[in-house]
Formats: sequence, C-alpha cells, structure tokens
Amino acid sequence: MIHLKSLTKTFPHPDGKITAVDQVTLKINTGEIFGIIGLSGAGKSTLVRLINRLEEADSGEIWIDDTELRNLNKLKLNIVRKEIGMIFQHFNLLESRTVEENVAFPLELAGMKKKEIGERVQETLRLVGLLDKAKVHPAQLSGGQKQRVAIARAIANRPKILLCDEATSALDPQTTKSILTLLKELKNTLNLTVIMITHEMEVIREICERVAVMQNGAVIECDAVETVFMHPKTELTRSFVTHLRPDRKQVAPKDAASYRLQLTFLGDSIQEPLLSRTIQKYGVEINILAAEINQLATVPVGNLLVEVSGSKEEIEFCIHAFHQQNIQVEVVSA
Ligand SMILES: Nc1ncnc2c1ncn2[C@@H]1O[C@H](COP(=O)(O)OP(=O)(O)O)[C@@H](O)[C@H]1O
Ligand SMILES: [Mg+2]
Repeated sequence: MIHLKSLTKTFPHPDGKITAVDQVTLKINTGEIFGIIGLSGAGKSTLVRLINRLEEADSGEIWIDDTELRNLNKLKLNIVRKEIGMIFQHFNLLESRTVEENVAFPLELAGMKKKEIGERVQETLRLVGLLDKAKVHPAQLSGGQKQRVAIARAIANRPKILLCDEATSALDPQTTKSILTLLKELKNTLNLTVIMITHEMEVIREICERVAVMQNGAVIECDAVETVFMHPKTELTRSFVTHLRPDRKQVAPKDAASYRLQLTFLGDSIQEPLLSRTIQKYGVEINILAAEINQLATVPVGNLLVEVSGSKEEIEFCIHAFHQQNIQVEVVSA
C-alpha cells in the first residue's frame, strides 16, 4: 500500500552534504503496524517527513496505493495529505486552544461544517478516552493525555495512514504501554496503517508486525519482528535486541539477575503450561520476547527467546528444569 522506491534526501552542510535518507526502498502493507528503528541521526524523522512531503526528496518515488506523491501538484497533494495523520514526541498541541478546539483544528482547515465538526470531535475524543477533558487546556494535562489529544487531532479527518515519530519517547514505560494499546485499538477500529518511528526496541516488540532498521540513512535490515529478534542479521540490530529493557522482578539488588535464554524444543504444544509451571515452581519471572515454530521434516521445532528474571539461584534452577524436560537452553546474555 505504501511503497517507497529508492528515496534519497540530502541536506547541505559546510563539509559537503549529509545524506539523511539513502536509497530507501520499503513496502508497507495496508493495515499493518510497521516499525522503523534506528539511533538518533539515522534518518528516521526525515524519512517520515518525506512520506507526506513535509520534506522534498532529492530522488525516488513515494507510492500510496496507485498514487505517486512526488508528481502531485499542491492541490492534489493536500487531498492526499488528509489521508495521512502524524503525531510527534512533543505532542505539538496548540496551547491557547482547549482539547476539543485542538481536535477541531484540522477539521476547520478541511472546511467541515460546524455541526459536523462538533459531532466528529466528540466521537474522536471518545475513541481516545478523553471526553471528560474536552474543555480543558493542554497545560492541565499529563504527558499521556496530551499525546491522546495529539492522536485525536491526527485521526480527526479519519486518515488511512498514521505516522508516529517517537510518539512515546517522552513518556514513562507505563504511559507508553497505554498509548501503544490505544494505537493498536485505533488501528483496528479505523483500519489504519501505522508507521512507528522509534529508537526503542520495546515499542517495536509491543505493537509492530514488521520492522526496518535504519543506519546512516539506509535500511540495513527489514523483516518480521519475531525474525529480527530471533535472528538479527546486523550488529546494530543485535544491540537493540540485547539492550531491550527487561520487566525486572523485585528481588534483593545483590542477587537480582536477568538472563536472556533461547529455548529450543520439539513439538509445538508445551510452551505455555511449561512456562507457567516453571514460574510457579521457581518463583522467576519469564517474559517471552519472541516465539516461532518451524516444521522440521515431520516434527515441529519450537524456538522461544525469553527473558528470565529473579535471583541468580532461582534462574539456575529454572535452566536445570528446562534441561530435564529435554529443552535445549542457550544463554544469549546474562
Ligand atoms: N533540516 C535539516 N538540515 C540539515 N540537516 C538535517 C536536517 N534535518 C535532518 N538533518 C540531518 O539528517 C540526519 C538525519 O536526521 P533525522 O532524520 O532527524 O534522524 P533521526 O530522526 O533518525 O534522529 C542527521 O544527520 C541530521 O543532522
Ligand atoms: Mg527523529
């Protein structure tokens, strides 16, 4: 549905030019949540700004369905832009307007009638769970609530695509989760295609189906999230996976440990009961990072990447228990 073909963008710089986006080719499917991860300066923001032509590419093509955006005149571009919503790290709300006036803003720009605007704003605030804050100014809201307003504003015109540039980077982990859950719900209710830009692997793991990894303007890896977790192809991707923030269990600090294990087992049915039994028995906490089942000849082979937290001793017992059940355990990191 979104097809970027060899997109390139350079910026002038005193020592020559910076290639912010370097020949990026990507296909993003309708209705998927697609992640783009990379370190600061990798070119992620520039890439999303190229998609809605907030920034003009030097070369390449931007296809949305059957329309190539770089060929459109201003008028037609403005029509297509209504189908693309965007949210940012710092919310970019209009501080002088109330919540409902912020959400009404893009509808006013689109020339919608006053009565319709009122109805649409109500409906949209209900979708993001902020009906009770309609008359409030942004300054009175928490970060998570501000991002909900920004989301409401971005979806007010009922776009087909939502671009999220570090939308959760200013939020604490719990608020991040609630915003990601909201985005997932909205994706389903409104049939959105979502592009999530982030530098946090947690965000990718939480909601993305596929992910592209960017480095120095280029896409260096692109695959299903599970595959990227299980088989990272590049050093950078490996470091994102390794530095994933574990949901740590509360144990005495000196004993606290967290191991990343790759479990391999025959058969496809044992993982859930096995894990919950192990958690109960050894008191560890197990967080499944990725799972896959491969058919090997006639036997399914399961692979799980898990994060086990607890005391060092509890984890050692737990690994021993896995071995006893014929599960192959590889300690990826400890
Ligand atoms: N308007 C601009 N003018 C000059 N250089 C820019 C501009 N915008 C971005 N850059 C440069 O392009 C590169 C990519 O930036 P950016 O897309 O913001 O990366 P990211 O979002 O991944 O952190 C950086 O080196 C940045 O300094
Ligand atoms: Mg950025």
